[in-house]
Amino acid sequence: MKPRLLSGMQPSGMLHLGNWLGALQNWVALQDRYDCYYMVADLHSLTTGYDRTAAMPERVKSLVLDWLAAGLDPDRCVMFVQSAVAEHSQLALLLGMITPLGWVERVPTYKEKLRELSEREIQTYGFLGYPVLQAADILLYAAAGVPVGQDQLPHLEMTREIARRFNHLYGPVLVEPEALLTEAAVLPGTDGRKMSKSYGNVISLSDAAEMVEQKIRSMQTDPARVRRTDKGHPEVCPVFTLHRYFTPADAVAQIEIDCKSAALGCVDCKRWLAKSVNTALEPLRERRAVIEQAPGMVQEVLAAGAVRARSAAGATLHRVSAAMHLDYTQREDGYGGDPGPGLAPSVPADSVAQPIPGQST
Ligand code: TRP
Ligand code: SF4
Repeated sequence: MKPRLLSGMQPSGMLHLGNWLGALQNWVALQDRYDCYYMVADLHSLTTGYDRTAAMPERVKSLVLDWLAAGLDPDRCVMFVQSAVAEHSQLALLLGMITPLGWVERVPTYKEKLRELSEREIQTYGFLGYPVLQAADILLYAAAGVPVGQDQLPHLEMTREIARRFNHLYGPVLVEPEALLTEAAVLPGTDGRKMSKSYGNVISLSDAAEMVEQKIRSMQTDPARVRRTDKGHPEVCPVFTLHRYFTPADAVAQIEIDCKSAALGCVDCKRWLAKSVNTALEPLRERRAVIEQAPGMVQEVLAAGAVRARSAAGATLHRVSAAMHLDYTQREDGYGGDPGPGLAPSVPADSVAQPIPGQST
């Protein structure tokens, strides 16, 4: 049995080259070696966007389209939407009961985000609970590993602490996950700053080839290189940085030499980069074209994913409720009555999560 992984992304718009190299390519590569669960974290996006939910279905769909285009394969991994699996909300509530306020207040991302998004009213209970919800996401699947970037390490650490605290209070049920650290790919955007949706400087995975050309044509270069005959400084040029990611190494070495000697002009250098980026994106465009021929595909993938996710998550929630003496549906006194849809654990008590080899619970 392959060890299980879980990771998630918020549905906050189309993915860009930085998301691809920084996370998604890694997710694709992990599909065969691990039992992968990939989640659209729509509940997490409510923590800062509870007042703009109208576009949520569209954002979820566009994220999953990007996933499929990038090569996530529903036959090799489970893709699902967080809110479709009620166990996430249920476990988050239970874990909230045992999470000291000091822990969540101390998470560095909390105060940072409060400052960053000071124009939005996010001094909410839900936003403070962000890492508790994330812990629930991970612990529900008894995930051995969580592929994330450096920025998520505080959340992983809190997840481990919550699991330990739960196990200490109620018995060994939850599995402490390990971070599978993804090397950060900090790509420059078209303006030379870090590629980020909030700066409006991104090249999206879904951009057409002409759009990629146009965006790269307008990119910042070495500011000291004013005339074509000026010698360039590739080390300060965002175009060159992108070449390193998308152009073969021997060609990059030549570009460096020719930029420094002014043998290569910025116009040609950019045309070259556009070609490299478009070559890299070509397989994604092909897959996207196929998917667009199959309307309903995203819904099907997510519906099937939700069923599989619920089965795994339900098994854990069952064990959690039993450990906390809350599993009314299973008790002889039967306080629960007919469980009905939704609130009851969605799988029978005997389908308990398998332990992960090499993991202690
Ligand atoms: N917080 C993560 C991010 O912003 C998204 C996320 C939600 C997540 N739940 C998760 C990542 C569980 C890993 C595991 O990127
Ligand atoms: Fe940048 Fe290329 Fe121009 Fe050199 S030639 S400054 S690397 S765009």
